[in-house]
Amino acid sequence: MATERTFSIIKPDATRRNLTGAVTKMLEDGGLRVVASKRIHMTREQAEGFYGVHRERPFFNDLCTFMTSGPVVVQVLEGENAVARNREIMGATNPENADEGTIRKVHAESIEANSVHGSDSLENAKIEIDYFFKPEEIVG
Ligand code: TYD
Repeated sequence: MATERTFSIIKPDATRRNLTGAVTKMLEDGGLRVVASKRIHMTREQAEGFYGVHRERPFFNDLCTFMTSGPVVVQVLEGENAVARNREIMGATNPENADEGTIRKVHAESIEANSVHGSDSLENAKIEIDYFFKPEEIVG
C-alpha cells in the first residue's frame, strides 16, 4: 500500500449547517490525516477553473453558483491509498445511491449539495492540491 495525498472540499451545504467538524471526524475516523486545511469563499473564477472539466455539462452553471454560495473548507488528506479511501468514505455522488455510513449518505442534501468533494485520481489530486495550496501550507 502506498501513502498518498488527496484533495478534499467541505462544500457550502455542510459549512452552512456547521458540519465542518463532523465531516472531518468521518475522514479522520476513516484513516485519513488532515495535513492542510483552510476556510475560503471561492470566487466564480476559481470555481469555474476548478470544475473546468465539467464546463460542457448541463449542471456546470448551477454547480459553480452553489460552490460560491458560501464558505468551503479545502483540505489535503494523507493516508494509505488516500484517493480511493476518501472516495469510499465520501460515498456515491448522488446521496440516494451512497452506502450507509458514508459522508454523503449521512449528510448530503442532494446530488448538487452533496457536502464533499474528493479527487478521483492521484493525477487529479496533485493538480487540485496545487490549485489551492502552496507547498509550505502543507505540513505532513
Ligand atoms: P462528478 O465529478 O461526477 O462527481 P464527484 O463529486 O462524486 O466526483 O461531479 C462533480 C460535482 O458536480 C458533483 O459532486 C455534484 C455536481 N453534479 C451535479 O450537480 N449534477 C449531476 O448530475 C452530476 C453528475 C454532478
